[in-house]
Amino acid sequence: APLIRLLKVRSVVQWVFPIWTKYCRLILFFLFWLQVPLLEAGDIIIDGGNSEYRDTTRRCKELQEKGILFVGSGVSGGEEGARYGPSLMPGGDKEAWPHIKKIFQSIAAKVNTGEPCCDWVGEEGAGHFVKMVHNGIEYGDMQLICEAYHLMKDILGMEHDEMATVFGEWNKTELDSFLIEITANILKFRDSDSKHLLPKIKDSAGQKGTGKWTAISALEYGVPVTLIGEAVFARCLSSLKDERVQASKRLDGPKMTQFSGNKKAFLEDIRKALYASKIISYAQGFMLLRQAAKEFGWTINYGGIALMWRGGCIIRSAFLGKIKDAFDRNPDLQNLLLDDFFKKAVEDCQDSWRHVISTGVQIGIPMPCFTTALSFYDGYRHEMLPANLIQAQRDYFGAHTYELLSKPGEFIHTNWTGHGGNVSSSSYNA
Ligand code: 6PG
Repeated sequence: APLIRLLKVRSVVQWVFPIWTKYCRLILFFLFWLQVPLLEAGDIIIDGGNSEYRDTTRRCKELQEKGILFVGSGVSGGEEGARYGPSLMPGGDKEAWPHIKKIFQSIAAKVNTGEPCCDWVGEEGAGHFVKMVHNGIEYGDMQLICEAYHLMKDILGMEHDEMATVFGEWNKTELDSFLIEITANILKFRDSDSKHLLPKIKDSAGQKGTGKWTAISALEYGVPVTLIGEAVFARCLSSLKDERVQASKRLDGPKMTQFSGNKKAFLEDIRKALYASKIISYAQGFMLLRQAAKEFGWTINYGGIALMWRGGCIIRSAFLGKIKDAFDRNPDLQNLLLDDFFKKAVEDCQDSWRHVISTGVQIGIPMPCFTTALSFYDGYRHEMLPANLIQAQRDYFGAHTYELLSKPGEFIHTNWTGHGGNVSSSSYNA
């Protein structure tokens, strides 16, 4: 029988002995490499940690030379997932899959149709890449919820229990998800002194780095995953607590600080702004997955990924069922926004989304993810962007050349000043 090293043991150990967390991974990897000489061809090693996908690709290739099958599996679900079934995203050496499929799919969470939240993701580091994008999307979802909370608290002046009720109600709509559900629970949670715990928590967000990896990959492969990038930077800005305390005493905001509209209608606008921004975030996440598949020659089943995230994991939601349906309708769907269901959903939210952003901007509430989502939407739907001017500027000062709309593929240089000469730089794109 194949030897299976379930490194997710690390997770189990980390819940039992929290102090050991940061050492467990090191120890297990040390043991693992120590054991490599003892392994035989056909043995299977499974890394279920949040590993960096390029490490997984390298390990996969190195072990393949020895005939050892390496699987890098994303595992999501936290404590509850560990007890009741996580979402599992295995990738790597496909020869291992028939041996581990039954085990993986039986321990994974199931959606209401009984389908497991686990399927083969793809070659090499594909499983860990998909988990990394899952985590990036998790950062985005969390920041979007925080922006809705900020607007409710500071524009509408809502109390914690009132906000908890609203999030509870939202959980019965298109926003039905684990993160909305726990937000309602967090908002109503009271400390031992019967006061709400949330306002006592320091407003500096931590991060272990998977959101940052997603943003770095987006930059590396040239995919505009702007919402996850903003979510990471929002955590960075939050962590500058001392600096912000100083700045708050020196820097003024707008004169307008009061909201004069209809509170109930504005709450519905916030819900719609959150929903539309979330659609953009997932559209961007899937754009990154598509680009990675192209970059590495991976065959990725996008509908399968939506199903894997539908249950068990931190971003689990009813919404992912809709994404699965979109890829079932068209497995080659270029962008989620082009699917009829999501196109209409964004259109239906659009007025509310713009109203929330303009009101928030006027009153001075930071909304990095709401605003970047809308800018992306407006950019993506524009046939013409002002990048023609960037090309002209680049050519003007550095002879970097440009293409004419009428002559695609032909790069030319103009002597803009009359004394710049006709020499142009070579054209290459980073
Ligand atoms: C999961 C989570 C988990 C990760 C948290 C914490 O899917 O179960 O993604 O793997 O530990 O996301 O991440 P940060 O500390 O970076 O917020």
